Amino acid sequence: MFRRLSASVALLAAALTATPASAADAPLRDLAAARGVYLGTAVTASRLTGGYAQIAGAEFGSVTPGNEMKWSSVEPTRGTYDWSGADRVVAFAEANGQEVRGHTLVWHSQLPSWLTGGSFTADELRRIMTDHIAVEAGRYKGRIDHWDVVNEPLNDDGTLRQSLWAKALGESYIADAFRAARAADPAAKLYLNDYSTDGIGAKSDGMYALVERLLAQGVPIDGVGFQAHLVLGQVPVTLEPNLRRFADLGVDVAITELDIRMQLPATEAKLDRQKADYASVLRACLAVTRCAGVTVWGFTDADSWIPDFFPGEGAATPYDENLARKPAYDGIAEALTPVGNPPPTGTACAVTYTVQSQWNTGFTAQVTVRNTGTTALDGWRTEWGYGSGQRVTQAWNATVTQTAARVTAASLSYNASVPPGGSVSFGLNGTWSGTNPPPTGLSCATGS
Ligand code: G3I
Repeated sequence: MFRRLSASVALLAAALTATPASAADAPLRDLAAARGVYLGTAVTASRLTGGYAQIAGAEFGSVTPGNEMKWSSVEPTRGTYDWSGADRVVAFAEANGQEVRGHTLVWHSQLPSWLTGGSFTADELRRIMTDHIAVEAGRYKGRIDHWDVVNEPLNDDGTLRQSLWAKALGESYIADAFRAARAADPAAKLYLNDYSTDGIGAKSDGMYALVERLLAQGVPIDGVGFQAHLVLGQVPVTLEPNLRRFADLGVDVAITELDIRMQLPATEAKLDRQKADYASVLRACLAVTRCAGVTVWGFTDADSWIPDFFPGEGAATPYDENLARKPAYDGIAEALTPVGNPPPTGTACAVTYTVQSQWNTGFTAQVTVRNTGTTALDGWRTEWGYGSGQRVTQAWNATVTQTAARVTAASLSYNASVPPGGSVSFGLNGTWSGTNPPPTGLSCATGS
Protein backbone atom coordinates (compact mmCIF):
# COMPACT_ATOMS: atom_id res chain seq x y z
CA MET A 1 0.00 0.00 0.00
CA PHE A 2 0.93 3.64 -0.05
CA ARG A 3 2.61 3.49 3.33
CA ARG A 4 5.09 1.10 1.80
CA LEU A 5 6.01 3.13 -1.27
CA SER A 6 9.41 4.11 -0.14
CA ALA A 7 11.31 6.77 -1.94
CA SER A 8 9.48 8.46 -4.67
CA VAL A 9 6.39 9.63 -2.87
CA ALA A 10 7.91 12.10 -0.47
CA LEU A 11 10.23 13.49 -3.07
CA LEU A 12 7.35 14.00 -5.41
CA ALA A 13 5.21 15.48 -2.67
CA ALA A 14 8.00 17.95 -2.16
CA ALA A 15 7.85 18.80 -5.83
CA LEU A 16 4.21 19.76 -5.39
CA THR A 17 4.92 22.60 -3.00
CA ALA A 18 5.94 26.04 -4.09
CA THR A 19 9.71 26.10 -4.27
CA PRO A 20 11.44 23.31 -2.41
CA ALA A 21 14.63 22.06 -3.92
CA SER A 22 14.62 18.78 -2.04
CA ALA A 23 12.47 16.68 0.24
CA ALA A 24 14.19 18.24 3.23
CA ASP A 25 12.64 21.58 2.28
CA ALA A 26 9.10 20.27 2.14
CA PRO A 27 6.78 21.03 5.06
CA LEU A 28 6.65 18.25 7.62
CA ARG A 29 2.94 17.76 6.95
CA ASP A 30 3.66 16.94 3.30
CA LEU A 31 6.51 14.61 4.12
CA ALA A 32 4.26 12.83 6.60
CA ALA A 33 1.30 12.62 4.23
CA ALA A 34 3.54 11.11 1.58
CA ARG A 35 4.36 8.34 4.07
CA GLY A 36 0.67 7.79 4.89
CA VAL A 37 0.75 9.33 8.35
CA TYR A 38 -0.10 12.72 9.79
CA LEU A 39 2.25 14.96 11.72
CA GLY A 40 0.29 17.01 14.21
CA THR A 41 0.79 19.50 16.98
CA ALA A 42 -1.03 20.64 20.06
CA VAL A 43 -1.85 24.33 19.84
CA THR A 44 -2.99 27.09 22.16
CA ALA A 45 -5.96 28.91 20.64
CA SER A 46 -5.03 32.33 21.98
CA ARG A 47 -1.65 32.16 20.24
CA LEU A 48 -2.95 31.39 16.76
CA THR A 49 -1.72 34.61 15.18
CA GLY A 50 1.52 35.79 13.54
CA GLY A 51 4.48 33.47 13.20
CA TYR A 52 3.00 30.87 15.55
CA ALA A 53 -0.08 30.52 13.36
CA GLN A 54 1.99 30.53 10.19
CA ILE A 55 4.13 27.59 11.34
CA ALA A 56 1.22 25.70 12.88
CA GLY A 57 -0.69 25.91 9.61
CA ALA A 58 2.17 25.29 7.23
CA GLU A 59 4.07 22.49 8.95
CA PHE A 60 1.41 20.35 10.60
CA GLY A 61 -1.38 18.29 9.09
CA SER A 62 -3.32 17.90 12.32
CA VAL A 63 -3.97 20.06 15.37
CA THR A 64 -5.00 19.18 18.90
CA PRO A 65 -6.35 21.86 21.22
CA GLY A 66 -3.99 21.67 24.21
CA ASN A 67 -6.62 22.71 26.73
CA GLU A 68 -9.61 24.23 24.95
CA MET A 69 -11.78 21.10 24.64
CA LYS A 70 -11.28 19.96 28.22
CA TRP A 71 -14.32 19.92 30.47
CA SER A 72 -13.23 22.82 32.69
CA SER A 73 -12.69 24.92 29.56
CA VAL A 74 -16.00 24.23 27.87
CA GLU A 75 -18.36 24.02 30.86
CA PRO A 76 -16.83 25.92 33.79
CA THR A 77 -20.29 26.46 35.28
CA ARG A 78 -22.87 23.73 34.99
CA GLY A 79 -24.98 24.31 31.91
CA THR A 80 -22.97 27.36 30.78
CA TYR A 81 -20.71 26.61 27.86
CA ASP A 82 -17.71 28.42 26.45
CA TRP A 83 -16.75 27.06 23.07
CA SER A 84 -14.67 30.04 22.01
CA GLY A 85 -11.24 28.40 22.28
CA ALA A 86 -12.34 25.09 20.81
CA ASP A 87 -14.19 26.78 17.96
CA ARG A 88 -11.12 28.81 17.17
CA VAL A 89 -8.89 25.77 16.88
CA VAL A 90 -11.38 23.87 14.71
CA ALA A 91 -11.86 26.89 12.42
CA PHE A 92 -8.09 27.29 12.16
CA ALA A 93 -7.73 23.65 11.17
CA GLU A 94 -10.43 23.92 8.53
CA ALA A 95 -8.90 27.07 7.10
CA ASN A 96 -5.58 25.25 6.81
CA GLY A 97 -6.86 21.91 5.54
CA GLN A 98 -5.83 20.15 8.75
CA GLU A 99 -7.24 17.24 10.69
CA VAL A 100 -8.36 17.78 14.28
CA ARG A 101 -7.62 15.55 17.27
CA GLY A 102 -10.28 16.24 19.85
CA HIS A 103 -8.85 16.21 23.36
CA THR A 104 -10.45 15.08 25.58
CA LEU A 105 -13.98 14.01 26.54
CA VAL A 106 -13.48 12.03 29.78
CA TRP A 107 -10.50 12.61 32.06
CA HIS A 108 -9.87 12.81 35.79
CA SER A 109 -8.09 16.16 35.49
CA GLN A 110 -9.10 19.67 34.42
CA LEU A 111 -12.67 18.99 35.50
CA PRO A 112 -14.84 21.92 36.60
CA SER A 113 -15.26 22.37 40.35
CA TRP A 114 -19.05 21.97 40.12
CA LEU A 115 -18.30 18.40 39.08
CA THR A 116 -15.40 17.53 41.39
CA GLY A 117 -17.02 19.26 44.36
CA GLY A 118 -20.53 18.01 43.67
CA SER A 119 -22.29 15.12 45.29
CA PHE A 120 -23.76 12.81 42.71
CA THR A 121 -25.06 9.26 42.68
CA ALA A 122 -23.46 6.77 40.31
CA ASP A 123 -26.44 7.00 37.97
CA GLU A 124 -26.26 10.78 37.96
CA LEU A 125 -22.54 10.74 37.21
CA ARG A 126 -23.02 8.30 34.35
CA ARG A 127 -25.69 10.55 32.89
CA ILE A 128 -23.55 13.67 33.37
CA MET A 129 -20.68 11.98 31.53
CA THR A 130 -22.72 10.69 28.59
CA ASP A 131 -24.60 14.00 28.28
CA HIS A 132 -21.26 15.84 28.18
CA ILE A 133 -20.04 13.57 25.40
CA ALA A 134 -23.27 14.02 23.47
CA VAL A 135 -23.04 17.80 23.75
CA GLU A 136 -19.35 18.23 22.95
CA ALA A 137 -18.82 15.50 20.36
CA GLY A 138 -22.22 16.41 18.92
CA ARG A 139 -21.26 20.05 18.54
CA TYR A 140 -18.25 19.14 16.41
CA LYS A 141 -19.85 16.18 14.65
CA GLY A 142 -18.15 15.47 11.33
CA ARG A 143 -15.33 17.91 12.01
CA ILE A 144 -13.13 15.85 14.35
CA ASP A 145 -10.96 13.11 12.87
CA HIS A 146 -9.80 11.52 16.11
CA TRP A 147 -11.31 11.90 19.57
CA ASP A 148 -9.37 11.10 22.72
CA VAL A 149 -12.56 9.77 24.27
CA VAL A 150 -11.07 8.58 27.55
CA ASN A 151 -7.76 9.96 28.75
CA GLU A 152 -5.37 8.41 31.26
CA PRO A 153 -7.58 5.64 32.70
CA LEU A 154 -4.75 3.66 34.30
CA ASN A 155 -2.38 3.77 37.24
CA ASP A 156 1.34 3.25 36.66
CA ASP A 157 0.99 -0.44 37.57
CA GLY A 158 -1.65 -0.95 34.89
CA THR A 159 -4.64 -1.11 37.22
CA LEU A 160 -7.69 1.10 36.84
CA ARG A 161 -7.04 4.63 38.10
CA GLN A 162 -9.50 5.45 40.86
CA SER A 163 -10.73 8.61 39.19
CA LEU A 164 -14.00 10.35 39.88
CA TRP A 165 -15.45 8.13 37.17
CA ALA A 166 -13.93 4.81 38.18
CA LYS A 167 -14.75 5.29 41.85
CA ALA A 168 -18.43 5.66 41.09
CA LEU A 169 -18.81 3.50 38.01
CA GLY A 170 -15.90 1.07 37.87
CA GLU A 171 -14.44 0.15 34.49
CA SER A 172 -17.88 0.36 32.87
CA TYR A 173 -17.51 4.11 32.43
CA ILE A 174 -15.00 3.53 29.65
CA ALA A 175 -17.35 1.40 27.55
CA ASP A 176 -20.20 3.84 28.14
CA ALA A 177 -18.03 6.78 27.10
CA PHE A 178 -17.05 5.15 23.81
CA ARG A 179 -20.62 4.18 23.02
CA ALA A 180 -21.79 7.73 23.70
CA ALA A 181 -19.02 9.14 21.52
CA ARG A 182 -19.86 6.82 18.62
CA ALA A 183 -23.52 7.84 18.85
CA ALA A 184 -22.60 11.54 18.90
CA ASP A 185 -20.11 11.47 16.00
CA PRO A 186 -20.12 8.23 14.04
CA ALA A 187 -17.35 9.34 11.65
CA ALA A 188 -14.71 10.20 14.26
CA LYS A 189 -12.04 7.67 15.15
CA LEU A 190 -12.37 6.98 18.87
CA TYR A 191 -9.20 6.64 20.95
CA LEU A 192 -8.20 5.55 24.41
CA ASN A 193 -5.15 7.61 25.41
CA ASP A 194 -2.57 7.36 28.18
CA TYR A 195 1.01 8.19 29.18
CA SER A 196 3.88 5.89 30.20
CA THR A 197 2.36 3.18 28.03
CA ASP A 198 4.89 3.81 25.26
CA GLY A 199 7.16 0.85 25.95
CA ILE A 200 6.23 -2.66 27.00
CA GLY A 201 5.74 -2.79 30.77
CA ALA A 202 3.20 -3.10 33.54
CA LYS A 203 1.18 -0.08 32.50
CA SER A 204 1.04 -0.91 28.79
CA ASP A 205 0.26 -4.53 29.69
CA GLY A 206 -2.70 -3.18 31.65
CA MET A 207 -3.74 -1.08 28.68
CA TYR A 208 -3.40 -4.03 26.36
CA ALA A 209 -5.62 -6.17 28.56
CA LEU A 210 -8.13 -3.33 28.87
CA VAL A 211 -8.34 -2.89 25.09
CA GLU A 212 -8.78 -6.65 24.67
CA ARG A 213 -11.68 -6.58 27.16
CA LEU A 214 -13.31 -3.60 25.47
CA LEU A 215 -13.05 -5.19 22.02
CA ALA A 216 -14.47 -8.45 23.37
CA GLN A 217 -17.49 -6.49 24.63
CA GLY A 218 -17.99 -4.90 21.23
CA VAL A 219 -17.07 -1.44 22.49
CA PRO A 220 -16.50 0.91 19.54
CA ILE A 221 -12.84 1.69 20.11
CA ASP A 222 -10.85 2.53 16.97
CA GLY A 223 -7.45 3.40 18.32
CA VAL A 224 -5.03 3.64 21.21
CA GLY A 225 -3.04 6.81 21.81
CA PHE A 226 0.44 6.76 23.31
CA GLN A 227 1.25 10.18 24.72
CA ALA A 228 5.04 9.79 24.65
CA HIS A 229 6.07 12.47 27.12
CA LEU A 230 9.66 11.29 26.98
CA VAL A 231 12.99 12.06 28.60
CA LEU A 232 16.14 12.77 26.58
CA GLY A 233 17.97 9.55 25.74
CA GLN A 234 15.15 7.39 27.06
CA VAL A 235 12.98 6.54 24.07
CA PRO A 236 11.75 3.07 25.05
CA VAL A 237 13.47 0.43 22.95
CA THR A 238 10.19 -1.47 22.91
CA LEU A 239 8.19 1.42 21.46
CA GLU A 240 7.82 -0.16 18.02
CA PRO A 241 6.95 -3.70 19.18
CA ASN A 242 4.56 -2.19 21.68
CA LEU A 243 2.73 -0.21 18.99
CA ARG A 244 2.68 -3.32 16.85
CA ARG A 245 1.13 -5.56 19.46
CA PHE A 246 -1.74 -3.10 19.91
CA ALA A 247 -2.17 -2.77 16.15
CA ASP A 248 -2.33 -6.56 15.96
CA LEU A 249 -5.41 -6.40 18.19
CA GLY A 250 -7.14 -4.66 15.28
CA VAL A 251 -6.99 -1.03 16.41
CA ASP A 252 -5.12 1.97 15.06
CA VAL A 253 -2.32 3.45 17.14
CA ALA A 254 -0.95 6.98 17.32
CA ILE A 255 1.68 8.96 19.17
CA THR A 256 -0.47 11.73 20.61
CA GLU A 257 1.57 14.08 22.80
CA LEU A 258 5.23 13.68 21.92
CA ASP A 259 7.80 15.84 23.66
CA ILE A 260 11.33 14.99 24.79
CA ARG A 261 12.51 17.00 27.75
CA MET A 262 16.02 17.67 29.00
CA GLN A 263 17.73 19.30 31.94
CA LEU A 264 18.36 22.96 31.10
CA PRO A 265 20.42 24.54 29.78
CA ALA A 266 20.16 22.88 26.39
CA THR A 267 23.56 22.19 24.83
CA GLU A 268 24.50 21.29 21.29
CA ALA A 269 25.13 17.71 22.38
CA LYS A 270 21.72 17.45 24.08
CA LEU A 271 19.95 18.94 21.08
CA ASP A 272 21.70 16.45 18.79
CA ARG A 273 20.62 13.62 21.03
CA GLN A 274 17.10 15.01 20.98
CA LYS A 275 17.18 15.02 17.19
CA ALA A 276 18.01 11.31 17.19
CA ASP A 277 15.29 10.64 19.76
CA TYR A 278 12.61 12.43 17.75
CA ALA A 279 13.69 10.54 14.64
CA SER A 280 13.46 7.20 16.40
CA VAL A 281 9.91 7.89 17.60
CA LEU A 282 8.85 8.84 14.08
CA ARG A 283 10.50 5.72 12.69
CA ALA A 284 8.69 3.51 15.18
CA CYS A 285 5.37 4.89 13.98
CA LEU A 286 6.32 4.54 10.32
CA ALA A 287 7.30 0.93 10.91
CA VAL A 288 3.80 0.02 12.07
CA THR A 289 1.22 0.08 9.31
CA ARG A 290 -1.66 0.98 11.62
CA CYS A 291 0.17 3.92 13.17
CA ALA A 292 -1.99 6.84 12.04
CA GLY A 293 0.38 9.64 12.96
CA VAL A 294 2.45 11.52 15.47
CA THR A 295 1.43 14.68 17.35
CA VAL A 296 3.94 16.84 19.19
CA TRP A 297 2.66 18.40 22.39
CA GLY A 298 3.25 21.99 21.37
CA PHE A 299 5.70 22.72 18.58
CA THR A 300 7.62 25.52 20.28
CA ASP A 301 9.42 25.61 23.63
CA ALA A 302 7.49 28.83 24.27
CA ASP A 303 4.26 26.83 24.37
CA SER A 304 5.32 23.72 26.27
CA TRP A 305 3.93 22.51 29.59
CA ILE A 306 7.30 21.07 30.65
CA PRO A 307 8.95 24.03 32.42
CA ASP A 308 5.85 24.56 34.58
CA PHE A 309 5.57 20.93 35.60
CA PHE A 310 9.25 19.87 35.73
CA PRO A 311 11.29 22.73 37.21
CA GLY A 312 14.74 22.92 35.64
CA GLU A 313 13.70 20.94 32.56
CA GLY A 314 12.49 22.10 29.15
CA ALA A 315 13.55 22.56 25.52
CA ALA A 316 11.28 19.62 24.76
CA THR A 317 9.81 20.57 21.38
CA PRO A 318 11.08 20.93 17.75
CA TYR A 319 11.16 24.76 17.75
CA ASP A 320 12.88 27.06 20.21
CA GLU A 321 11.17 29.90 22.06
CA ASN A 322 11.81 32.27 19.14
CA LEU A 323 10.14 29.94 16.67
CA ALA A 324 13.45 28.86 15.15
CA ARG A 325 13.79 25.22 14.09
CA LYS A 326 15.89 23.03 16.36
CA PRO A 327 17.80 19.90 15.36
CA ALA A 328 14.71 17.96 16.48
CA TYR A 329 12.86 19.46 13.52
CA ASP A 330 15.49 18.00 11.18
CA GLY A 331 15.23 14.68 12.98
CA ILE A 332 11.52 14.55 12.21
CA ALA A 333 12.06 15.62 8.59
CA GLU A 334 14.84 13.09 8.05
CA ALA A 335 12.83 10.25 9.56
CA LEU A 336 9.93 11.12 7.25
CA THR A 337 12.16 11.29 4.16
CA PRO A 338 12.64 7.83 2.67
CA VAL A 339 16.13 6.70 1.77
CA GLY A 340 17.02 4.50 -1.13
CA ASN A 341 15.00 3.62 -4.23
CA PRO A 342 15.04 7.11 -5.71
CA PRO A 343 12.64 7.58 -8.59
CA PRO A 344 14.07 7.16 -12.07
CA THR A 345 15.68 10.34 -13.37
CA GLY A 346 13.25 12.44 -15.31
CA THR A 347 10.13 10.84 -13.79
CA ALA A 348 7.84 13.19 -11.93
CA CYS A 349 4.19 14.04 -11.58
CA ALA A 350 1.91 16.67 -10.13
CA VAL A 351 -1.69 16.35 -9.05
CA THR A 352 -4.67 18.67 -8.63
CA TYR A 353 -8.03 18.05 -6.99
CA THR A 354 -11.11 20.05 -7.91
CA VAL A 355 -14.64 19.84 -6.54
CA GLN A 356 -16.77 20.18 -9.66
CA SER A 357 -20.17 20.19 -8.03
CA GLN A 358 -21.53 19.94 -4.54
CA TRP A 359 -25.00 19.48 -3.13
CA ASN A 360 -26.44 19.15 0.38
CA THR A 361 -24.71 15.89 1.28
CA GLY A 362 -22.69 14.93 -1.78
CA PHE A 363 -20.09 16.15 -4.21
CA THR A 364 -18.25 15.25 -7.38
CA ALA A 365 -14.51 15.82 -7.62
CA GLN A 366 -12.05 15.54 -10.48
CA VAL A 367 -8.42 14.61 -9.88
CA THR A 368 -5.84 15.26 -12.56
CA VAL A 369 -2.37 13.71 -12.63
CA ARG A 370 0.12 15.46 -14.87
CA ASN A 371 3.47 14.11 -16.05
CA THR A 372 5.91 16.89 -15.16
CA GLY A 373 8.97 14.81 -15.97
CA THR A 374 10.88 14.08 -19.12
CA THR A 375 10.03 10.39 -19.57
CA ALA A 376 6.67 8.68 -19.98
CA LEU A 377 4.92 7.50 -16.83
CA ASP A 378 4.28 3.79 -16.63
CA GLY A 379 1.61 3.87 -13.95
CA TRP A 380 0.76 6.47 -11.33
CA ARG A 381 -0.78 6.67 -7.91
CA THR A 382 -2.14 9.53 -5.83
CA GLU A 383 -3.05 9.89 -2.21
CA TRP A 384 -4.79 12.41 0.00
CA GLY A 385 -6.53 12.80 3.34
CA TYR A 386 -10.08 13.93 3.99
CA GLY A 387 -10.15 16.17 7.03
CA SER A 388 -13.90 16.39 7.62
CA GLY A 389 -15.25 12.89 7.40
CA GLN A 390 -15.82 12.86 3.65
CA ARG A 391 -16.31 9.39 2.16
CA VAL A 392 -15.79 8.25 -1.39
CA THR A 393 -18.88 6.41 -2.64
CA GLN A 394 -18.06 5.89 -6.31
CA ALA A 395 -15.10 6.44 -8.62
CA TRP A 396 -14.25 6.12 -12.29
CA ASN A 397 -11.06 5.92 -14.35
CA ALA A 398 -8.94 4.84 -11.33
CA THR A 399 -8.94 2.25 -8.58
CA VAL A 400 -9.86 4.30 -5.53
CA THR A 401 -9.81 2.97 -1.99
CA GLN A 402 -10.43 4.72 1.31
CA THR A 403 -9.20 3.62 4.73
CA ALA A 404 -10.35 5.91 7.47
CA ALA A 405 -9.50 9.41 6.26
CA ARG A 406 -6.88 8.36 3.72
CA VAL A 407 -7.73 7.86 0.09
CA THR A 408 -5.47 6.22 -2.45
CA ALA A 409 -6.03 6.03 -6.19
CA ALA A 410 -4.10 4.03 -8.78
CA SER A 411 -4.05 4.02 -12.56
CA LEU A 412 -5.88 1.41 -14.57
CA SER A 413 -4.30 -0.47 -17.48
CA TYR A 414 -5.76 1.90 -20.08
CA ASN A 415 -4.56 5.15 -18.48
CA ALA A 416 -1.30 4.05 -16.85
CA SER A 417 0.88 5.48 -19.58
CA VAL A 418 1.18 9.26 -19.62
CA PRO A 419 3.60 11.04 -21.96
CA PRO A 420 5.80 13.92 -20.74
CA GLY A 421 3.59 16.99 -20.41
CA GLY A 422 0.44 14.88 -20.68
CA SER A 423 -2.23 14.36 -18.05
CA VAL A 424 -5.01 11.98 -17.09
CA SER A 425 -8.07 12.64 -14.98
CA PHE A 426 -10.32 10.50 -12.88
CA GLY A 427 -13.46 11.30 -10.98
CA LEU A 428 -15.28 10.39 -7.84
CA ASN A 429 -18.48 10.99 -5.95
CA GLY A 430 -18.37 11.45 -2.22
CA THR A 431 -20.45 12.33 0.79
CA TRP A 432 -19.82 15.16 3.22
CA SER A 433 -21.53 16.82 6.16
CA GLY A 434 -20.72 20.02 7.95
CA THR A 435 -17.93 21.18 5.70
CA ASN A 436 -16.12 19.87 2.64
CA PRO A 437 -12.63 21.42 2.79
CA PRO A 438 -9.92 20.57 0.25
CA PRO A 439 -8.02 17.36 0.93
CA THR A 440 -4.77 17.37 2.88
CA GLY A 441 -1.45 15.92 1.82
CA LEU A 442 -2.40 15.55 -1.83
CA SER A 443 0.52 13.76 -3.47
CA CYS A 444 1.29 11.58 -6.44
CA ALA A 445 3.85 8.94 -7.25
CA THR A 446 4.94 7.28 -10.43
CA GLY A 447 5.13 3.59 -11.19
CA SER A 448 2.52 0.86 -10.82
O1 G3I B 1 -5.89 29.39 31.96
C1 G3I B 1 -5.21 29.66 33.20
C2 G3I B 1 -4.84 31.11 33.31
O2 G3I B 1 -6.03 31.87 33.36
C3 G3I B 1 -3.99 31.31 34.57
O3 G3I B 1 -3.54 32.63 34.61
C4 G3I B 1 -2.78 30.39 34.56
C5 G3I B 1 -1.98 30.49 35.84
O4 G3I B 1 -1.25 29.31 36.08
O5 G3I B 1 -3.23 29.07 34.44
C6 G3I B 1 -3.94 28.82 33.24
O6 G3I B 1 -4.35 27.48 33.20
C7 G3I B 1 -3.30 26.56 32.93
C8 G3I B 1 -3.64 25.82 31.66
O7 G3I B 1 -2.69 24.81 31.42
C9 G3I B 1 -3.66 26.72 30.44
O8 G3I B 1 -2.42 27.29 30.23
C10 G3I B 1 -3.21 25.61 34.11
O9 G3I B 1 -2.73 26.28 35.24
C11 G3I B 1 -2.26 24.46 33.76
O10 G3I B 1 -2.35 23.49 34.79
C12 G3I B 1 -2.67 23.84 32.46
O11 G3I B 1 -1.74 22.84 32.16
C13 G3I B 1 -2.13 21.94 31.15
C14 G3I B 1 -2.10 20.52 31.71
O12 G3I B 1 -2.43 19.62 30.68
C15 G3I B 1 -3.05 20.31 32.86
O13 G3I B 1 -2.95 19.01 33.33
C16 G3I B 1 -1.16 22.06 30.01
O14 G3I B 1 -1.28 23.35 29.40
C17 G3I B 1 -1.46 20.97 28.99
O15 G3I B 1 -0.45 21.00 28.01
C18 G3I B 1 -1.49 19.62 29.68
O16 G3I B 1 -1.77 18.64 28.75
C19 G3I B 1 -1.82 17.29 29.25
C20 G3I B 1 -2.79 16.53 28.39
O17 G3I B 1 -4.03 17.18 28.37
C21 G3I B 1 -2.94 15.10 28.86
N1 G3I B 1 -1.66 14.44 28.95
C22 G3I B 1 -0.65 15.15 29.72
C23 G3I B 1 -0.48 16.56 29.21
C24 G3I B 1 0.63 17.28 29.93
O18 G3I B 1 0.29 17.47 31.27
